[in-house]
Amino acid sequence: MSGRAGDSPAMRRAIEIAQRGAGEVEPNPRVGAVVLKKGKVVGEGFHEAYGGPHAEIGALRKGKGDTVVVTLEPCSTEGKTPPCVEALRRAGVRRVVWALDDPSPANGGKAKAALEAAGIEVVRGVLSKEAEPLLRWFRRGLSMERPWVIAKWAMTLDGKIGSRDRDAKWVSGEEAREAVHQLRGRCEAIVVGVGTLLADDPLLTPRRKSLLPGPPLRVVFDSGLRTSPEAKIFSDKTCPVVIATLAGADAEREKVLRERGAEVIRLGTDASGGVSVAEVLKALWGSGVRRLLLESGGKLAASFFAAGAVDQVVAFVAPKVAGGASAPTPVEGTGVSKMGEALAAAEWFSTKVGEDLRLTALFPEGTVPPAGG
Ligand SMILES: NC(=O)c1ccc[n+]([C@@H]2O[C@H](COP(=O)([O-])OP(=O)(O)OC[C@H]3O[C@@H](n4cnc5c(N)ncnc54)[C@H](OP(=O)(O)O)[C@@H]3O)[C@@H](O)[C@H]2O)c1
Repeated sequence: MSGRAGDSPAMRRAIEIAQRGAGEVEPNPRVGAVVLKKGKVVGEGFHEAYGGPHAEIGALRKGKGDTVVVTLEPCSTEGKTPPCVEALRRAGVRRVVWALDDPSPANGGKAKAALEAAGIEVVRGVLSKEAEPLLRWFRRGLSMERPWVIAKWAMTLDGKIGSRDRDAKWVSGEEAREAVHQLRGRCEAIVVGVGTLLADDPLLTPRRKSLLPGPPLRVVFDSGLRTSPEAKIFSDKTCPVVIATLAGADAEREKVLRERGAEVIRLGTDASGGVSVAEVLKALWGSGVRRLLLESGGKLAASFFAAGAVDQVVAFVAPKVAGGASAPTPVEGTGVSKMGEALAAAEWFSTKVGEDLRLTALFPEGTVPPAGG
């Protein structure tokens, strides 16, 4: 079927609004949609959050029309949300125009036949070159067979994530902490090292409504099983606790932690001598974790960077200075010897969250030199 004069301007707009999902939806694609009624725009939408409604659904909520112009082939299978193909049919849409076929094996190439079977005209490939960058991180997610990792921290203006006495309550303000709860509700696993567990005794639950079907796993890297059976994470039974430890860890300690409700998994070591980041990621991927929030201190964060396993950083910067050469920083390890070797972000954005600044950075594949212990 052929395109119409209004398709390209509508697609240009859909591409523009798709970018508003940047930093919120990865490893999902950024997607924008425009609803047309007799050639006039009556609705717009974009994929706003991982686990949230797809762009065409958001656009149809704004207005009903005869044509939907969307940057990506609509989904035709049930995922975290119901299939969009079915929603388009029920909304009485007569034409669907998209820029890019879905490259995922689960969904790709299925919408055309499904829509045409429902009597809906399909036009593919409109402004596909312009729309292609919207799939950059989605393609990366499809190829890596491990969860998308978001390292999150809150730091002072001088880059400290705690005081010299390791006090971190609170670095950032209330609104930033609220944003973290929202972020937790959009990840299938929340990860810390035992250092953070011992210092802060966090609960690590999303205290706001989650966008995902199940509760997140709470995962602790703990090679010597130092996790206290009295830790707060055991007081909440809604989110399972997984403790990742080493093969030689004490069996008695394991028994006590299992009795508190934890699943204990024994894995190999990495360069730091701690629990292997790659092996934990593989195990979590196998349990269906696609997006993971790393809320550790600098030691475990350094191991994730050394493993080349950080895709995104969300850093809250508070307008205060703590000082102190020994105060903890977000990424420890040995670090680079020359600034030119630092891992550079491919994209980054900033927003104000209450009194704090939220910086979101997306990284190409790459490592920061090994954790030095
Ligand atoms: N402001 C913030 O956003 C924020 C967030 C989190 C933490 N913090 C602060 O950070 C400080 C804690 O820092 P931290 O670096 O000790 O915490 P961490 O990175 O969460 O935990 C480090 C511990 O994890 C264990 N571990 C197991 N496998 C590891 C691996 N592969 N690589 C590295 N570690 C591994 C190690 O203990 P074992 O050898 O016993 O296994 C290690 O000492 C506290 O002051 C806390 O308040 C601040």
